[in-house]
Amino acid sequence: MAKSSTSPSQEVETLPPKKVQEKEIPQKMIYKGSDAGSLDTCLPLIDIPTIDFVLLTSPESSAQELEKLRSVLSSWGCFQAINHGIEPAFLDKVKAVGRQFFALPAEEKNKYARDIAIGFEGYANHIINGEEQAFDWIDRLYLITGPEDRKQLKFWPENPESFRKILEEYNAKMVKLNEFLLKAIGLALNLEENCFLDMYGEEATMIAVYNLYPPCPRPDLAIGLKPHADGTAFTYLLQDKEVEGLQVLKDNQWYRVPVIPEAFVINVGDQIEIMSNGIFKSPIHRVVTDSERGRMSLAVFCLPNPNQEVGPVNGVVNEARPRLYKTVKDYTSIFYSYFEKGTRPIESAKI
Ligand code: OGA
Ligand code: NI
Repeated sequence: MAKSSTSPSQEVETLPPKKVQEKEIPQKMIYKGSDAGSLDTCLPLIDIPTIDFVLLTSPESSAQELEKLRSVLSSWGCFQAINHGIEPAFLDKVKAVGRQFFALPAEEKNKYARDIAIGFEGYANHIINGEEQAFDWIDRLYLITGPEDRKQLKFWPENPESFRKILEEYNAKMVKLNEFLLKAIGLALNLEENCFLDMYGEEATMIAVYNLYPPCPRPDLAIGLKPHADGTAFTYLLQDKEVEGLQVLKDNQWYRVPVIPEAFVINVGDQIEIMSNGIFKSPIHRVVTDSERGRMSLAVFCLPNPNQEVGPVNGVVNEARPRLYKTVKDYTSIFYSYFEKGTRPIESAKI
């Protein structure tokens, strides 16, 4: 009962103590990975640099910003992109349609349910990777958004009504942003501007993944997303504006990634690690849950077409830096088979 005459502090005293530690969650949700002990600990916030895309293009500042890009991709493998040219109001819309979808009754969402016998596309609650492993504390909507002929609209929500149109528009913008970055990393290494873009190839696969991490009564026991590196070329993540959760591993230490509203967290995926002959690092990351608040993120995975052969680009292999990776094709299939075993897929591409 609200007692208008009591001050907030008195009110707190009359409440029973929180009993979070006694709450139970299903056995299948209890995460047992080697990093399980650090899920609910107080971690440092990382100061991953921001890269300003306007500075990358202007003649007076581009050399300095490109050097910053090279440095951050070689150390952290991720950064926050600001001034990337996509309107904040549009980003809000892209996120809003995801939230509206997740808020629908289960019956409506299940019209777009994933069929694991066919693939990863569609809506699923709690992904599981392999028999032995615990479930992740997550709901996911996973959609191939390009190329056009690989889209399976049966998985694309029609509710909210604007969902498909907005996601298509978003995809077109992400294709351009990714091309821009692929060129920039060529320049950042003093290589031919198009060398990464050419290796990445045409008809690339674009995947949009809406991740919803519902509030979890035991953030110390369950994990939002297990530690993994992405099998992409690049991943573009829009974080929740209010709730943190993403963490990155560096030198055996987990760091929280701060929220910068409207920025993209961009990370190198395994295929850029391969193309750069290991100069750029595909970082291991995970997501933890929050006991009070749900968190929604939207990840866009940019991947070379499965027919494209991907190996180190010209100029990254030399006497001082021998070739470290094989040429791979359809890395994503390799990726998922390893993921299920719990080993790092990139190991399979090493010489
Ligand atoms: C992913 C991922 C991070 C997040 O989908 O691969 O790492 O914050 N997501 O949701
Ligand atoms: Ni990831």
